[in-house]
Amino acid sequence: MKVERFTEDALKEIQREVTGKAIIGLSGGVDSSVCAMLAHRALGDRFVPVYVDSGLMRQGESERIQELFKDIGLVRVDAEDRFLEALKGVTDPEEKRKVVGATFIRVFEDEARKIGADTLIQGTIYPDRIESDGGIKSHHNVGGLPTQMEFAKIVEPIRDLYKDEVREVARALSLPLEISERMPYPGPGLSVRIVGEVTKEKLAIVRKANAIVEEEVNKFTPWQAFAALLGMATGVKGDNRCYGWVVAVRSVTSRDAMTADVQELSWGVLRGISSRITGEIPEVARVVYDLTPKPPGTIEFE
Ligand code: XMP
Repeated sequence: MKVERFTEDALKEIQREVTGKAIIGLSGGVDSSVCAMLAHRALGDRFVPVYVDSGLMRQGESERIQELFKDIGLVRVDAEDRFLEALKGVTDPEEKRKVVGATFIRVFEDEARKIGADTLIQGTIYPDRIESDGGIKSHHNVGGLPTQMEFAKIVEPIRDLYKDEVREVARALSLPLEISERMPYPGPGLSVRIVGEVTKEKLAIVRKANAIVEEEVNKFTPWQAFAALLGMATGVKGDNRCYGWVVAVRSVTSRDAMTADVQELSWGVLRGISSRITGEIPEVARVVYDLTPKPPGTIEFE
């Protein structure tokens, strides 16, 4: 891929495909950020980026994204209650993706109506399509889409790119390093990092644990590093027996997320993460490190 050529073609495609107004769900990930910058260039004020705080985002993420994209007119929608309500009682991972995907679309539709936009721009990339088409996981921005949508059109300008190519385009568009090099983060967010039903309490715990893992591991440049909430187990804190959450720490290296290797972190780093998580989060009784490559594991737990 030649970046200049790609960018020129993408701008032309967006101008050709979007006849009225368009919106994008801008999560702050490199994919949607690149699409947002392209659409902003191509359409000017006929384009509105919408950030949905689903309540499934990482610590401090919503505030940071709002700050980074205020110059291109970012609209923030707080929809945590709507997502939690929709996810109530849902335990199956594929069902979670469908529920999250459908809720995102309903929120976007509401915003689009206010703005008068009939087109949705999406940051779907090539591996998303492969994994959804192949029936591995229905990534919420592909297979998780509801069949009935109010949008007249969906435009996916980076649908043929791999992640490393998207990063190249991001650098060429002068996006800040924290965006161009940003760790991939799944659309359904923390909901697929909680095995079982999603609740506000579990989200608070996994969010804190995830922040600790990222703080401790990012300097070793993993493809992805995160925490997931598995279930409950017995532990002992102070003089008391306790029954608390098991947090799994996952850190992997990869080229394109199609396969992944476990990152070889030192004992010192792993023990540091474990003692920080159990020490700083009272509800956690145990910490485990996931040793499974992909395949046979997937990167996320669900
Ligand atoms: P898995 O877990 O399938 O993940 O090995 C491969 C890559 O995709 C991300 N991922 C998702 N991204 N919606 C997304 O937008 C999803 O539903 C989803 N599930 C997994 C995962 O974080 C990894 O980068």
